[in-house]
Amino acid sequence: MESMREEESLKALYKDAFHIGAAVNPLTIDSQRSLLAYHFNSLTAENEMKFSSLHPEENLYTFENADVIAAFAREQGMALRGHTLVWHNQTPDWLFENETGGKAERDLLLERLRSHIQTVVGRYKDVIYCWDVVNEVISDENDESAFLRPSKWLDIVGEDFIAKAFEFAHEADPQALLFYNDYNESNPHKRERIYRLVRSLLDQGVPIHGVGLQAHWNLYDPTLDDMRAAIERYAQLGLQLQLTELDVSVFRFDDRRTDLTRPEKGMLELQAERYESIFRLLYEYREHISAVTFWGAADDYTWLDHFPVRGRKNWPFLFDESHAPKPAYERVAQIPKRAAMEKK
Ligand code: GLA
Repeated sequence: MESMREEESLKALYKDAFHIGAAVNPLTIDSQRSLLAYHFNSLTAENEMKFSSLHPEENLYTFENADVIAAFAREQGMALRGHTLVWHNQTPDWLFENETGGKAERDLLLERLRSHIQTVVGRYKDVIYCWDVVNEVISDENDESAFLRPSKWLDIVGEDFIAKAFEFAHEADPQALLFYNDYNESNPHKRERIYRLVRSLLDQGVPIHGVGLQAHWNLYDPTLDDMRAAIERYAQLGLQLQLTELDVSVFRFDDRRTDLTRPEKGMLELQAERYESIFRLLYEYREHISAVTFWGAADDYTWLDHFPVRGRKNWPFLFDESHAPKPAYERVAQIPKRAAMEKK
């Protein structure tokens, strides 16, 4: 029984370092409830607070699923991260269209965004302490001159949709910590673009308080040196950093094998070593890092079962399919304990 868990709680072990978070949905709140309550002190809605989940039509808000997550966070006294207000995915078409079905005008789109942010941020003000205001607007292109990702936001509003989103969020909840969030955050080219974006927002006086490193990583990539360089670079912005979507896939990104029904020999040991080095690094930078959120909690449920290969099982977390601690858990748990012993 999970209520009789014997291993030490991660949130307790890391209480002086950073929050330990998990992305959840109403189903996993049910199926992983005691695991979540025991090890985690922060939550993020996996999909339920995205634009198309909350606001599928102009005059229709659907809060049921997001409310379930907010209620669980309140009940458990957990921190709740809001995810996400502006993104190029999972955003409904109506937002970008005017009354006649043509392209919405800049002012119309900005007014809709402001109204959405007022409604959503306002609704969860009591429980959400930080928002991923803008998600993934930096380009992945190798081309040196690439900067922002092409999107309807950019096309209709121009570059200042980013600043506007932060201003609207700040207006809706002046207490909330506002984050820019992105993936491939440790890639040196993308890292410099993210740095440049956030630096320019700061220079313009835009209310932004943190950088979210998604950290969708695997056993081999990115290198620890690149992770460290990214943390150091973002820390130079003087903002707080959070890992927002950590998982460690057992497959390289271009490994498209589908024949494994359980981890190959050695994979879980390699994963344990990898998690150990990652958490050593995070612990070392704990003054800058305020939360480490996994994009799930245990191997019975992960988006990686469907990405990048649909229907291929993956095992990216510290807990296995029956929620028992994996070798990676043991390594991660050791780090703060050892540090505490060395201090004595
Ligand atoms: C991105 C988004 C998340 C989620 C993951 C994959 O990283 O920020 O909301 O969609 O992809 O599940």
